[in-house]
Amino acid sequence: MTHLPTRLRQNSTIRNLVQETRLSIYDLIQPVFVTKSPSKSEINSMPGQFHIPIDEVIDEVQQIIDVGIKAIIVFGIPEDKDEIGSDAINENGTVQLSVKRIKKRFPNLIIITDVCFCQYTTHGHCGVLNKNRSIDRKESLKLLEKQALSHVKAGADIIAPSCMIDEMVMCIRATLDENGYENISILSYSAKYASSFYGPFRDAVESTPKKGNRKSYQMNISNSKEAVKEVKLDILEGADLVMVKPALPYLDVIQKISNSFDCPVVAYQVSGEYSMIKSASMNGWINENDVALESITSIKRAGADLIITYFAKQIAPLICEINK
Ligand code: PBG
Repeated sequence: MTHLPTRLRQNSTIRNLVQETRLSIYDLIQPVFVTKSPSKSEINSMPGQFHIPIDEVIDEVQQIIDVGIKAIIVFGIPEDKDEIGSDAINENGTVQLSVKRIKKRFPNLIIITDVCFCQYTTHGHCGVLNKNRSIDRKESLKLLEKQALSHVKAGADIIAPSCMIDEMVMCIRATLDENGYENISILSYSAKYASSFYGPFRDAVESTPKKGNRKSYQMNISNSKEAVKEVKLDILEGADLVMVKPALPYLDVIQKISNSFDCPVVAYQVSGEYSMIKSASMNGWINENDVALESITSIKRAGADLIITYFAKQIAPLICEINK
């Protein structure tokens, strides 16, 4: 027989030898939610994910490091929100205090911080608003620069602006350079879609816009050429890594970006993707670990170099076992 593709599927050894995509512990980034509240609490809409008090963040990160993960992304949930998101730029803010502790204790861990205002503002938008209640781009950029700088001073290694405000990368790059931080990288949320898959995250950080939605700054879910434009601009502005978000519903975009550019591509498997798998598994309808691994493998197969996933800590031991 000339063609019998199943020859190469006869046993696990041969299947492993011809396997094209292999997950590694180096692919994974674990999100961490830190809070100023003193007690640890599970996030309702994201079973298995917690709000971690600053005093317990070292324990949490220790567990993440113990399973071999090398990078985290930190999100802060402030005690008080206000119109301009003051906690976001405060050197004693939720993220700043947490990052300081984590960096001191684990200097080799890569700490990424999310730079955005939605979880810090009473209105829940990603920047500050002007008189017409739409994003004030210039003012927002100034505040984003301050936020980024405060994260770096606390010990962040990579700054990840997620607010989709034009020229955010250029402004943050300039500020970091002026302040002597030219070695700090920028991971831009370049192709961030106005997706309904962020629902559980917005519950987690109480960042649902009070009025309106994010369609005037996040991307139209129907577009893919536009993602190429967004990524191109961010790279020109100085992004070191670029992101596509969400991940599984946008595999075509991940593939396009990874084929078109030569910088590392990060995919974010977002809260809705996580919670769908969790809830189906809690109902006994799917095998959670298998579906998580399959989704994450698909994201890597599409071209992602790194994957931010709430499953990172959970599946890290499985990946190590598979790769043994
Ligand atoms: C904005 C931000 C969002 C997420 C990460 N950073 C949400 C948004 O735009 O509403 C979503 C992450 C997720 O859903 O897991 N700060």
